[in-house]
Amino acid sequence: MKIVEVGPRDGLQNETATIPTDLKIAFIDALAATGVDEIEVTAFVSSRWLPQLSDGEAVFRGITRREGVVYSALVPNELGLDRAFSARVDKIAVFTAASETFTHKNINTSIAGSLNRFKPVIRRAREAGLTVRGYVSAAFWCAFEGRIAPEAVVDVIVQLTDLGVDEVSISDTVGKARPHEVDELLALLLPRLPADRIAMHFHDTYGRAVENVLTSWRAGIRTFDASVGGLGGCPYAPGATGNVSTEAVVQALEAEGIAAGVDVARLTQARQLLEPFMTDALRTMPAVDSAACEACEYNRGEECCW
Ligand code: HMG
Ligand code: MG
Repeated sequence: MKIVEVGPRDGLQNETATIPTDLKIAFIDALAATGVDEIEVTAFVSSRWLPQLSDGEAVFRGITRREGVVYSALVPNELGLDRAFSARVDKIAVFTAASETFTHKNINTSIAGSLNRFKPVIRRAREAGLTVRGYVSAAFWCAFEGRIAPEAVVDVIVQLTDLGVDEVSISDTVGKARPHEVDELLALLLPRLPADRIAMHFHDTYGRAVENVLTSWRAGIRTFDASVGGLGGCPYAPGATGNVSTEAVVQALEAEGIAAGVDVARLTQARQLLEPFMTDALRTMPAVDSAACEACEYNRGEECCW
């Protein structure tokens, strides 16, 4: 099984405090010593859209690469790929969504436009020998469009794999998926894409992310994205809170007798490095937005997700 630590990217992109570059480097080096397989270091996106990660090159220059750990970065376009090449990343991740509205809000284009934009990115990355991940956000629910049909998600995934991505990361951006929805999507997808090309990326807004990880595990998935301390969220998805915490995923899997090979005490040490700078991101319990529940058409009805 594989744990992809996304805290340095998904976590820090959503943090309002400015984290000094040196501290990001120390954080990543500390994470590399925990036993995680892969670390998403940064995103080579527009600094106008995401100022928190505008020091991506300096972070890559400063880290001490640990053998066996894959260091990756998000890339939205060819300019991002050029930056990723110069930073000597091991792997890139392109990112789109199964919701048109979220895709527009997040990367300023349509789903089809994003796939078109990715064509040369994926081709050039593969020619350079890099592994390519493709994120599909809003794979269950969207902050703007509500429930997303599993067929629409599979459609985007198939298009991404046709373009040559090695792995897809199915993302519950707003953290609202329920285990039966995870089962439903995987039942539709697994006949078309083997489990070893699928990662699951759960945010934990409603406290169901660990359950969703275990549900995915039972369906055969072995790669999980997680963020130390439950950091994370997307600034372009209102209401989205942190990723499932790496500590919680490791402990839940271990309770099921599954060794994740990640040292929880060392995860805590890595998390503590950031604590002086954290504002609202390091949570121990998921936050439920009761005002959003009141406004939701499913509030307390049969389809209520809480
Ligand atoms: P745009 O404004 O349409 O792009 O944004 P543009 O091509 O018109 O460029 C605008 C400016 O950005 C130009 O600069 C470009 O040079 C610059 P100006 O001439 O105005 O000074 N620019 C860049 N600079 C640096 N690196 C680049 C780059 N590209 C353009 N790569 C764009 C389109 C995609 C660039 C923009 O929308 C963007 O950067 N979006 C990123 C948003 C983002 O990072 N969101 C969070 C990550 S996704 C996420 O969190 C979800 C995930 O966790 C899974 C889940 O949970 O769902 C992965
Ligand atoms: Mg995310």
